[in-house]
Amino acid sequence: MRLAIVGCGSIGSELAEAADGMTEVKRIYLLDQRGLAAEALASKLKKAEAVRSIEGELYHCDLVIEAASQNAAREIIPKVVGRGVDIMIMSVGALVDDDYRNNVYATARNTGARILVPSGALCGTDALSSASVGNIDLVRLITTKNPESIEDVPYLKKKGIDLSGIKGPTVIYEGTAREAVKLFPKNVNVAATVSIMGVGFDRTQVTVIADPAAQANSHELIVKGDFGEIVSKSSNVPSVYNPSTSHLAALSAISALKRIIRNDWVGI
Ligand SMILES: NC(=O)c1ccc[n+]([C@@H]2O[C@H](COP(=O)([O-])OP(=O)(O)OC[C@H]3O[C@@H](n4cnc5c(N)ncnc54)[C@H](O)[C@@H]3O)[C@@H](O)[C@H]2O)c1
Repeated sequence: MRLAIVGCGSIGSELAEAADGMTEVKRIYLLDQRGLAAEALASKLKKAEAVRSIEGELYHCDLVIEAASQNAAREIIPKVVGRGVDIMIMSVGALVDDDYRNNVYATARNTGARILVPSGALCGTDALSSASVGNIDLVRLITTKNPESIEDVPYLKKKGIDLSGIKGPTVIYEGTAREAVKLFPKNVNVAATVSIMGVGFDRTQVTVIADPAAQANSHELIVKGDFGEIVSKSSNVPSVYNPSTSHLAALSAISALKRIIRNDWVGI
């Protein structure tokens, strides 16, 4: 298999290192808007090379993995699926716009490409997927992070919320997933995953809590419906490279890659 990884930050680096050790992976093309990051990562690996654009690699790539940003994902998904190449997306909030999402899924159906979304920092997506076959009354995601893991959020400045002044657990956002993934593009991509799997972006409720005592990035998923009730919670160690990102997200991408390569569908 030949892979292209877009984004050589915390997730992309861990994923590339793991992929480098997989016998089934023959070549890894690395792209980052910080060209030096891609080159530095490639220099540590046996099968990798840094490239300057994704387009040139699509004719010989089996899978593109996006681990960059919502903007990057929005730009590359149509190019990749348009060429019939599979893509795995970490910045799932890129799929929030209904017209955009419907278009890229339609293109993928036409070309035979797959749009793959790992469970990321979240647990409970397996049961949510099963539950969504029947009637669901409620989907709620409660995300708690240390204020240090929530950065560059213009919405908070506009609201006059100063994270450095927070003394205890404080609700900084409550509303729809549609709004949450746009307001917190680096923090609640899992809200997009849950929305697509369950009841959509407008009916999925999201609460974001900043807690200065939080050591972990936690995501609690509550689902109620005809099937019964799901309450699942992951308390994730933040990535050592990027505190906004849970280490579990990189592990999820690695696990997804292994499953794709080995055609292993246990627990889907
Ligand atoms: N689905 C999930 O559960 C989940 C969990 C954690 C993070 N994420 C998301 O995954 C993405 C990657 O996370 P990370 O922690 O590795 O981020 P990071 O900031 O550590 O790394 C991102 C890298 O992508 C590069 N980049 C950004 N825009 C680019 C572009 N247009 N073209 C090429 N390179 C670009 C940056 O230079 C950086 O090196 C983020 O969008 C993050 O919000 C998703």
